[in-house]
Amino acid sequence: MSSDNIHAHYADHLRTAMQRADTALARGGFDHLVIPSGTLHYQAFDDRDYPYAVNPNFKFWLPLTNAPGSWLVYTPGQKPRLIFLQPHDYWHVVPSDPSGAWVEHFDIVVIRTADEALQHLPDASARTAILGEPQSALGNVIPNNPQAVLAYLDFHRAFKTPYEVAMIRLATRRGVRGHRAAERAFRAGASEFGIHLAYCQAVGQDSAELPYGNIIGLNEHGAVLHYMDRDRVPPRPSRSLLIDAGASHNGYACDITRTYSATNDDFQSMINAVDMAQRAMCDQVRNGTDYRQIHLDAHLALGRILKDFGVTTVDAETAVETGVTSAFFPHGIGHGIGLQVHDVAGFAETDAGGTLDKPDGHPYLRMTRVLAPGMVVTIEPGIYFIDMLLNELKDKGLAGSIDWAKVEAFKPYGGIRIEDEVVCTDDAPINITRETWSEIA
Ligand code: GLY
Ligand code: MN
Ligand code: MN
Repeated sequence: MSSDNIHAHYADHLRTAMQRADTALARGGFDHLVIPSGTLHYQAFDDRDYPYAVNPNFKFWLPLTNAPGSWLVYTPGQKPRLIFLQPHDYWHVVPSDPSGAWVEHFDIVVIRTADEALQHLPDASARTAILGEPQSALGNVIPNNPQAVLAYLDFHRAFKTPYEVAMIRLATRRGVRGHRAAERAFRAGASEFGIHLAYCQAVGQDSAELPYGNIIGLNEHGAVLHYMDRDRVPPRPSRSLLIDAGASHNGYACDITRTYSATNDDFQSMINAVDMAQRAMCDQVRNGTDYRQIHLDAHLALGRILKDFGVTTVDAETAVETGVTSAFFPHGIGHGIGLQVHDVAGFAETDAGGTLDKPDGHPYLRMTRVLAPGMVVTIEPGIYFIDMLLNELKDKGLAGSIDWAKVEAFKPYGGIRIEDEVVCTDDAPINITRETWSEIA
């Protein structure tokens, strides 16, 4: 997409943001919307700050991800206002002057100290919805996070504007470059830490800029769902790599997982089988489909793969019913993605509130909504060889459902996960990850 197009899409996006805010404020009985960008957090008993993470409600309005102490003020019918903190500070680099095509859409007030914002925020007696964390409170401007306002905004944030899809695509371009570099590093024998560095170098982002901590597991480490240890020395042999790593663009995330075997062995064949099943699951991302159904169908598909590879001795239906597939696939099929890698409102029943339950026996599913055009979700099935969960199967009397020799053969490879981001449309789904991968390759 050309930069002119992105500017036009941004203008439309901002209009959508204002329309949504108009309705959300009306529903809650408020006259103003105020969103602090957030402040730095400090380590206990220390003067060191944690990496700053901007309030997602703030970055929905404008692509400013590194401006702590700033505020967005919106009053229906008026141009939105940015109160921009640019302190006099010789210890740190101060946020540079706002620039870019978004600037013309805001009235911008520059302040030099955090407290100055108070002069530019609606009076405490005004009916104001203030969306932020408690520590963003400034004087008597205290975040109240009204339920009616947040329920409306969060619910609708699942529906991405074309601008947002473009931002996720740009994040994905970076992520795919990183994944390609990571595969090369793995095949050259790098350690987990070395693969991480190769990834960051290719993405052009440091750990704190990534939307989540890289998960880079060689061999058995692929079985630890959120493995973050990054050994400095490569194992010998280095059999397999599971890498779940994203990238950011203007505050938007991508979330991609790939798994590789070092040689063309049975584990690679199982990766290929999961890959093929995953593509079929991505094709289920269609208007009107209940996301829970994709998750439940994934259990059946993975149950078939486990049976085909001789890991289980029972048919897929039985493996699902008895909970055997849950020992191999113990997480959800995915989640919404956008400003946050795990986007808000995955369980929202309506834009006024309510919760859509997870299916019984599936506590880790992060999204239960019916898919509709504009939603962007991940699809991330996996098969892992996790001692703790396999031992639980034995305890439940299900040892006979498993060929334990096969489990022992696969265990040194850890596990498999394949994850793409998919856009739901009126028509066929768009797999942003695979499209981008083909473009770059
Ligand atoms: N990277 C975390 C996830 O896939 O949800
Ligand atoms: Mn994910
Ligand atoms: Mn992931």
